Amino acid sequence: MLEITNLHVSVADKPILKGLTLSVPAGEVHAVMGPNGAGKSTLAHVLGGKPGYEVTAGSVTFRGEDLLALEPHERAARGLFLGFQYPVEIPGVSNVQFLREALNAQRKARGEEPLSGGEFLKLAREKAALLKMDMEMLKRQVNVGFSGGEKKRAEMVQMGILDPAFAVLDETDSGLDIDALRIVGAGINAIMRSADKAVLLITHYQRLLDVVAPDKVSVLADGRILETGGPELALRLEAEGYDAVLA
Ligand SMILES: Nc1ncnc2c1ncn2[C@@H]1O[C@H](COP(=O)(O)OP(=O)(O)O)[C@@H](O)[C@H]1O
Ligand SMILES: [Mg+2]
Repeated sequence: MLEITNLHVSVADKPILKGLTLSVPAGEVHAVMGPNGAGKSTLAHVLGGKPGYEVTAGSVTFRGEDLLALEPHERAARGLFLGFQYPVEIPGVSNVQFLREALNAQRKARGEEPLSGGEFLKLAREKAALLKMDMEMLKRQVNVGFSGGEKKRAEMVQMGILDPAFAVLDETDSGLDIDALRIVGAGINAIMRSADKAVLLITHYQRLLDVVAPDKVSVLADGRILETGGPELALRLEAEGYDAVLA
């Protein structure tokens, strides 16, 4: 589903990704772990199409198409979702407005009819319930005054509503308390665990992987994937640390 081959990316002329190769087939949850500054968020941003990330070599194909040639909104319309490490606040726009606009823009791009206000609210209620989020919170401005954990949960509600084929989740577990972590993990399973979907799950902690249970685990260090294994690799990293495992 997602094929990243020998990807080199520079930010402000500084090489960050240095020949990253990673393949994520449909049906797979692939966890990416790695030390701070390794390039994990850079990978997420370049997949999402954030400006300022210069691809100097390599390729990314998504469902057989050249992902890097597409604008961010085109990537979204084709089923790519990006969950941010630091979700942005959008003052003056409510979650409900934002999510309905985003969903209907994607539906339009796919040649589907927009959802009416009533249909959208029904969908939003269902997905908010899945993440145990109060509908009142969805009526508030996007992320404004939300705690770190609330932002992450709101993002998962967004993912549920947009129903992407592929989710790149960047440290979705950061800032979550223990109960919220279980709810978010279960939400990822409910929304994304399917034979025709896949997830790239960037995380530092085994506790999210205890809930989401990845099929594969890769270590990203120094701008490359240095090792790929099964779930046991995450347990080894937790026990021994990056230096020992990569030595
Ligand atoms: N806009 C930027 N300008 C200069 N350096 C950057 C910029 N963004 C990221 N970097 C650098 O790129 C490296 C990788 O960052 P990042 O992808 O955020 O790492 P990770 O998410 O793995 O912790 C870091 O050394 C960081 O300082
Ligand atoms: Mg990061």
